[in-house]
Amino acid sequence: MAYLLGIDIGTSGTKTILIEETGRVVATATDTYALSTPKPLWAEQEPEDWWQATVSTVRTVLQDSGIDPAEINGIGLSGQMHGAVFLDDRNQVIRPSILWCDQRTGAECKWITETIGRDKVIELTSNPVLTGFTAGKIVWLRNNEPEAYARTRKVLLPKDYIRFRLTGEFAGEVSDASGTSLFNVTKRKWADEMLDGTGIPREWMPEVYESQEVSGVIAEDVAGLTGLKAGTPVVGGGGDQAAGAVGSGVVESGIISSTVGTSGVVFAFADKPVVDPSLRVHTFCHAVPGKWHVMGVMLSAGGSLRWYRDTFCGPEMAEAKANGSEVYDAISAQVADVEPGCEGLIFLPYLTGERTPYPDPNARGVFFGMTLRHDKRHFARSVYEGVAYGLRDSFEILGEMQVPINQVRASGGGARSAVWRQIQADITGREHVLINVDEGPAFGVALLAGVGTGVYPSVEDACRSTIKVVSSTKADAAQKASYDRYYSVYRSLYPAVKDQFEAVSQIVAE
Ligand code: XUL
Repeated sequence: MAYLLGIDIGTSGTKTILIEETGRVVATATDTYALSTPKPLWAEQEPEDWWQATVSTVRTVLQDSGIDPAEINGIGLSGQMHGAVFLDDRNQVIRPSILWCDQRTGAECKWITETIGRDKVIELTSNPVLTGFTAGKIVWLRNNEPEAYARTRKVLLPKDYIRFRLTGEFAGEVSDASGTSLFNVTKRKWADEMLDGTGIPREWMPEVYESQEVSGVIAEDVAGLTGLKAGTPVVGGGGDQAAGAVGSGVVESGIISSTVGTSGVVFAFADKPVVDPSLRVHTFCHAVPGKWHVMGVMLSAGGSLRWYRDTFCGPEMAEAKANGSEVYDAISAQVADVEPGCEGLIFLPYLTGERTPYPDPNARGVFFGMTLRHDKRHFARSVYEGVAYGLRDSFEILGEMQVPINQVRASGGGARSAVWRQIQADITGREHVLINVDEGPAFGVALLAGVGTGVYPSVEDACRSTIKVVSSTKADAAQKASYDRYYSVYRSLYPAVKDQFEAVSQIVAE
């Protein structure tokens, strides 16, 4: 029996999973860490925290499973995308990593777009330069921390920094590199014109592999630290969205995933690098060789519900703690009591700015349409519905792009609540199915490790032999019709308050 290990460097924690080649999960472990927001719109983490979480979760998984580490055929790495880790000439981390959800780089993104030319940027990278993406973070360092910039010798994405610590190799892979604004998504290699035009040294970027290719092996000293066997191959892996899509079997045309984690992502497979003419969705390389994907990314999906819980659900959290129950179940029970549409209470989920369909760092959350009849349960439901309206925005765009949608696979924390799943099905008008595994990106990269080490002949085969549909939530036509009317109000709200978002952001920044 071959065993495979997947490690996902997430935003809230690192998850390590050990599977058999059948796909059976043998052991998993998660360690969490902090996210710091030193200023409004900033989001940073310490790469050392990711490393400590990697070491401890790998050790736990090996201990809990009791397997001989020599039986692990390969390891795959996944992680939060876009973050920049800056290393000096001794490969030491220079400053905390600037993350995907950090919005500080508005001026730098504008400068990059104007310097290279908008059309050229799209031709080279298939996407606009967005504040979340990596290039703006590097230029921000040059403009704001010149001493740190002068010491920089390498820039790595989060999972690629962990690869460096595990193997000693500076390596990346195509799906994650796609989110840097420095990568030619069509040609699947660094875009020299973007690097030269922005003055970012080519040699700072790692060598890039396809996701299933072996990029290095576990180093001797790491074997001692983690319990892994020295020489175990580590494959390219994938950015968390592409890796999660592999882990949900989204590796062929017509199968779409809708994932509600901190972010909310509607992800479609693509045979070609198709670009939305209005640039509302991202076009990136897939973790399947020679394939691409198109995805809409909401920045606060599950993040909105977490905010709602932390801000308004003190009593529910205390009760859940006392009973050993799950606070999200209590929130779902309240939501189930409320009429669909919340009697006109509508939530705009732009708590950390937005990307799809409005790439706007200044966008903010809104509760619209309150009356005396609304109570706390309505607010909870409006958060569920607002996130689902946001996901529908991405479905609408994929529809306009004529991306085939035959099956929607729901995943992430937001798929675990039956009420929320039904709301997502009704608002999008699409049946949502659940699959037998919900282990996310870590599972996907474990499969990629199996492809790279010859356990499976291809990514498609790996998915086919391990992933099955187990249940489905059908859309209710009457509810869909009623939600359609609310959705058109939802759609009109952002344009109506866009200027006010900017005005208020300016006041706060002063
Ligand atoms: C994708 C994106 C997020 C992060 C964090 O473009 O920004 O999904 O990867 O999960």
